[in-house]
Amino acid sequence: MEHRQRQPPLPVPRDDPLYLTMPVQMVVSDAGTHLVFHDNSWAGRVTLREGVEGAGSGHDRPGTSEVRVDGGPLRCWVMVGTPARVLQAWSGLTGAPAVPPSWALGPQHARWGFGSEREVRRIVAGYRERGLPLSVLHLDIDHFDAHRVFTVDRERFPDLPGLAKELREDGVRLVSIVDPAVAAVPGNAVFDAGTAVGTSGAFVRDARGRTVRGEVWPGECVYPDFTDPQVRAWWGGLYEERLAQGFSGVWHDMNEPVSFAAFGEPTLPRSSRHALEGRGGDHREAHNVYGLAMARAGYEGLLRLRPDERPFLFSRSGWAGMQRYGGTWSGDVATGWPGLRASLALVLGLGLCGVPYSGPDVGGFDGSPSPELYLRWFQLGAYLPLFRTHAAIDAGRREPWEFGPRVLDGAREVLGERERLRPYWVTLAHLARLTGAPYVRPLWWAAPGDRALRECEDAFLLGDALLVAPVLEPGVEERSVRLPAGRWYDTVSGAVYEGPGQVVVGAPLSRVPVLARAGAVIPVRGAGGGLELEVWAPAEGAVNGRRPPGR
Ligand code: GLC
Repeated sequence: MEHRQRQPPLPVPRDDPLYLTMPVQMVVSDAGTHLVFHDNSWAGRVTLREGVEGAGSGHDRPGTSEVRVDGGPLRCWVMVGTPARVLQAWSGLTGAPAVPPSWALGPQHARWGFGSEREVRRIVAGYRERGLPLSVLHLDIDHFDAHRVFTVDRERFPDLPGLAKELREDGVRLVSIVDPAVAAVPGNAVFDAGTAVGTSGAFVRDARGRTVRGEVWPGECVYPDFTDPQVRAWWGGLYEERLAQGFSGVWHDMNEPVSFAAFGEPTLPRSSRHALEGRGGDHREAHNVYGLAMARAGYEGLLRLRPDERPFLFSRSGWAGMQRYGGTWSGDVATGWPGLRASLALVLGLGLCGVPYSGPDVGGFDGSPSPELYLRWFQLGAYLPLFRTHAAIDAGRREPWEFGPRVLDGAREVLGERERLRPYWVTLAHLARLTGAPYVRPLWWAAPGDRALRECEDAFLLGDALLVAPVLEPGVEERSVRLPAGRWYDTVSGAVYEGPGQVVVGAPLSRVPVLARAGAVIPVRGAGGGLELEVWAPAEGAVNGRRPPGR
């Protein structure tokens, strides 16, 4: 069971429990690749033990993994083959990833603490005045009335539909946070309606039939039981209010689910009862799938309400198969260089668990990043699927113009490149749906037998065509990159490299090194806005861009 307590001090990498659970283990070794899915949502524990010191290397180090769960069936699925084959089998079993709308593949800006419509307009104008592209703006809990979900603070946001329309005409979509916990106050319309669902209401109850109460942003709350199809249908209908306010998508948060606690587990009591699709059970079994079931309710609701539009949804919590409904994000990643590095590991790992759409809070959630850290994070984020700046209410500013002219120029450069590559992103999203392959892939994706690539965690492939080598440390002017086999071009200098092997590329603060594979054809947005194909010359004698072995 994974929890996250929303209390200071903020965690550093390694001690923050994850928000979502993926009972998936992928093993990549000289002997081949396989994926094991422990198909059981009960609370449990995974222990990894390394074997003999110094034996083997990396993923080949002998060792054991032990999975213990508190109940439920012993049910495992094993998929074997190349990484691409394994991911295809995985999406066949748990569902094809949803394709996000094209606008959700553009640059996004969020912040906890937007105080008014005026502030929202000021941020968007800030992007526009500086010629910076912006595709999405997110409204956090501040726009709710008393932090209550599916409400609007009319004093600070008197005309949200008007604001949404105005921004949309300017090419910016609004996305709304949606928390599952409902203020337990008679007169709160969602609480009253939920109480009337079915014969016993929509909210989780204890073994004696009393609604379980918790504490979240609005104060005392109750929790919809999304493992009940009737509750999902009711909750999905509530998104009509969000659509009427002008929102184009939703951001599910606090859905582990959270209940603040001074001590003990910051979630619902393990004895809480859940429908579990009619079987009945308790929170030990339902906890890990709560966010998944909420995502299903939201996705199906949005699809019912707007059958002609692709729903846009991403969720902090989730489980195997959540990709059917949308993506996820890092949650409150700590500001600092380790947080930047963790952002990449997270997106790569989620992709290998079948969830291809994710990204970090660019700049980190808390405090104030240095200008250098902010720009390096921004440069990495621009090559990850969900490209969104976000920060806590008491954190420093995160707008690209708040860190001086050098950072602004660097941000402008990479924002432009992100937009130029938008057709490629859309292509990757459709490929993910068709094949299960993540957009962001480890370097060993096509060559799992290459041990040196398996050891490399500081660069990645974006689809088949690009290799991105972000800077993850301070004070860097150049960095080494491990290349997979084939010819690669530096997309800025045009320098030609032959892989496999190690090369050093320039990485001044103004740029993130990106290499293109020889033979790649990349759909890009042309200068006039039309679609163009960017072609990288194949190496002489190469077949499909790859030089046949021995030539
Ligand atoms: C949680 C979310 C964060 C959000 C905050 C307030 O901490 O992870 O993204 O800003 O709640 O809603």
